[in-house]
Amino acid sequence: MDALNLIELEAQAKNRLAEMAWDYYRSGADDELTLRRNRAAFAEVALRYRVLVDVARRELSTRVLGCELELPIMLAPTAFHRLAHPEGELATVRAATAAGTSMILSSLSTTPVEEVVAASGRDVWFQLYVYKDRAATRALVERVREAGCKALVLTVDAPLLGRRERDVRNRFALPKGMGVQNMLAEGYAEVSAQDGESGLAAYFARLLDPSLTWSDLEWLRATAQMPVLVKGVVRADDARRAVEHGADGIVVSNHGGRQLDGSVATIEALPAIADEVGAELPLLCDGGIRRGTDVLKALALGASAVLVGRPQLWGLAAGGEAGVRHALQILHEELDRAMALAGCPDLGAVTRDLIA
Ligand code: GLV
Repeated sequence: MDALNLIELEAQAKNRLAEMAWDYYRSGADDELTLRRNRAAFAEVALRYRVLVDVARRELSTRVLGCELELPIMLAPTAFHRLAHPEGELATVRAATAAGTSMILSSLSTTPVEEVVAASGRDVWFQLYVYKDRAATRALVERVREAGCKALVLTVDAPLLGRRERDVRNRFALPKGMGVQNMLAEGYAEVSAQDGESGLAAYFARLLDPSLTWSDLEWLRATAQMPVLVKGVVRADDARRAVEHGADGIVVSNHGGRQLDGSVATIEALPAIADEVGAELPLLCDGGIRRGTDVLKALALGASAVLVGRPQLWGLAAGGEAGVRHALQILHEELDRAMALAGCPDLGAVTRDLIA
């Protein structure tokens, strides 16, 4: 693996991926304003670094809701890893384990959750989409708990799927033999080609529940019997509601710019949410993180850790398990260097005053 950074890794992935898969992973909704804004907003945040601090030793490890992390970077839930590599989610989770971090497995996994947990040497969290069929949703939650997942991450920014125009044009569908593996028994595994629509958008419209409200979070907490995080929050008042309804953590996210186009960048949304609830529960943040300095900025603005989505897929496509490992290695080294250069020997030193 010779990519020097995640941008180069993305270029390598592009060369490896079938066009439909590349388009699916890289797309944002509509005009992709938010996709670009997530990245551009990081460039607008400037670091006011400290000098003459002893940074001969740096400590990057942390703990989020009982999950031990050697670095404050987890793998965001991303769909259909077997589109990127035949070993799919198994390659990803092995790489996460080797890198000292944890994977948040997507509801849209192409590998059964039991196999993913068995292949992992660390905690696995599970991202949940709530189906209209509540019995099936409950069965899924029970299944992931029995498989050994340690937390649920409820995605709340997708009552229906954002319109990714390339997927419409490509008539996005999963190839035969690939599906939403954990919903096979319920008959909800197939994502098939549709005229004039992405097959995944049709899947969402047909099966997932757009009537979800805050009271469902309480239902889920009672059902889950494990910590529940809410993913997809960009407003402080929603963060407060999440706390009031019993969330154990919040993921500040706009779904990688794939849902409501024109929405605020996550790094712009984070500070107000941190001011509102940051002292009460862990905040995670994703969206456009491509450099160790981006991680440092998110931590300084109030994140306990960050999630990376597309970079893991670029690594997976470019080199399977070794590729995901390489992506995480790049970010780990970049964050370590950024901390040294900013005068931060540990994560406790990464505070808001680092931001100009
Ligand atoms: C699935 O969650 C997607 O964003 O495509």
